[in-house]
Amino acid sequence: MSTLLHLDSSADRSTSRSRAITAAFASAFRDAEPGNTVVHRDLHADPLPHLADASLHWAARLRSADASPEPAAEDLQQRLIAELLGADVLLLGFPLYNYSLPSSLKAWLDHVHVPGQTAPSAISGAPLTGRPAVLVTSRGGDYDSGTVNEGRDHATPVLELILGEEMGMAVTVITTSLTLASSVPALAGQTDRSESEYAHALRLARDLGERFGSSTTTRQR
Ligand SMILES: Cc1cc2nc3c(=O)[nH]c(=O)nc-3n(C[C@H](O)[C@H](O)[C@H](O)COP(=O)(O)O)c2cc1C
Repeated sequence: MSTLLHLDSSADRSTSRSRAITAAFASAFRDAEPGNTVVHRDLHADPLPHLADASLHWAARLRSADASPEPAAEDLQQRLIAELLGADVLLLGFPLYNYSLPSSLKAWLDHVHVPGQTAPSAISGAPLTGRPAVLVTSRGGDYDSGTVNEGRDHATPVLELILGEEMGMAVTVITTSLTLASSVPALAGQTDRSESEYAHALRLARDLGERFGSSTTTRQR
């Protein structure tokens, strides 16, 4: 019996590829074993506020003596962290917006990345070490090496850095690119590749959802 925390952040509620891919993963995860649970949070439909106070970036015992964050803001942060710590697997769906993360997902990240609580500090361990985090990203253009966009995706590297290197999670990335091939004339010759990458991402999501939903896999961590 495992729990998946499934977060979506696309502002497209009907034709989003990242939402379709995370849905395929979540469905396979739920079906993998009786009792598996999926907690879904739609960060676009129910946006979180920005982090209310800079002191909330630190665990309470690491804050300066004059820090006084609003109790309601701290409560929200602790609820989000409890949701993350309570999950065996994290699934994030996000489009590339302006070469970066959707602001709705950034707000979540700012709440849950807390040195001394979710990330190690001199006085604490790392509770999320080795826990799987599956990143599903969807982007309109082509980011292959040699293209004009090479190195311009600033969304996935940030999440790999914070969730993987800082928080110690075991990150897997599923990418679908060229999603605008059928609507942007400059990408018109790439519709076949766009469709085949999307189909591959859906298959991979189903396979990984089934794998991470099986207790044999989650017990190994
Ligand atoms: C506000 C906004 C900004 C975008 N910026 C970029 C961008 O910088 N690079 C890119 O390749 N595509 C960009 N796109 C296109 C999206 O990344 C693309 O449509 C993607 O498929 C959206 O994900 P979704 O299908 O899950 O909704 C942008 C789209 C929107 C709405």
